[in-house]
Amino acid sequence: MSYSEKVLDHYNNPKNVGTLDKSKSTVGTGLVGAPACGDVMRLQIEVDPATQLITDARFKTFGCGSAIASSSLATEWLKGKTVEEAVQIDNMDIVEELSLPPVKIHCSVLAEDAIRAAVNDYRKKNGLPELTFEESA
Ligand code: FES
Ligand code: FES
Repeated sequence: MSYSEKVLDHYNNPKNVGTLDKSKSTVGTGLVGAPACGDVMRLQIEVDPATQLITDARFKTFGCGSAIASSSLATEWLKGKTVEEAVQIDNMDIVEELSLPPVKIHCSVLAEDAIRAAVNDYRKKNGLPELTFEESA
C-alpha cells in the first residue's frame, strides 16, 4: 500500500505530539482504541472557559502511520475552533484531506472518536451533560 504525501508529512513531522495536564479543569482528555487493530490514541484539548475556544491540542498515538497522521491533522484543525465546532469534525473530512485508502478509514475514526471523548471529558469536568453521537463509518 502506498501512503499519500500528506500522510507521510504528518507521519514524519507530526504536529502537536505531547501531553497536557489532565488534572486541569480546562483540559479534556480522550483515550480511545480501535477494535479493528488494537491501536490506541490519546488526544487532549485545552479550552479557554471564557470564549470556549480550543487554545491547544496534543496527542499521543500508538498506532499505524495513518492513525498518527489523522491525529496530527486533527490537533491542527482543533486549535482555534470552539468546542461545538470540534465535535463537527467528521472522520471523512480526515479521510479526504489525507487521501486515506478504504482499509485505513478506521484510523480516521479513531481521531474522530478521540476528539469527541476529549470534548466530553471537558464537559463532564465542567458540570455539562455529555454529548451523544451517532456511530460513524
Ligand atoms: Fe495496528 Fe495499524 S493495524 S498499526
Ligand atoms: Fe489501526 Fe490505523 S489505527 S491500522
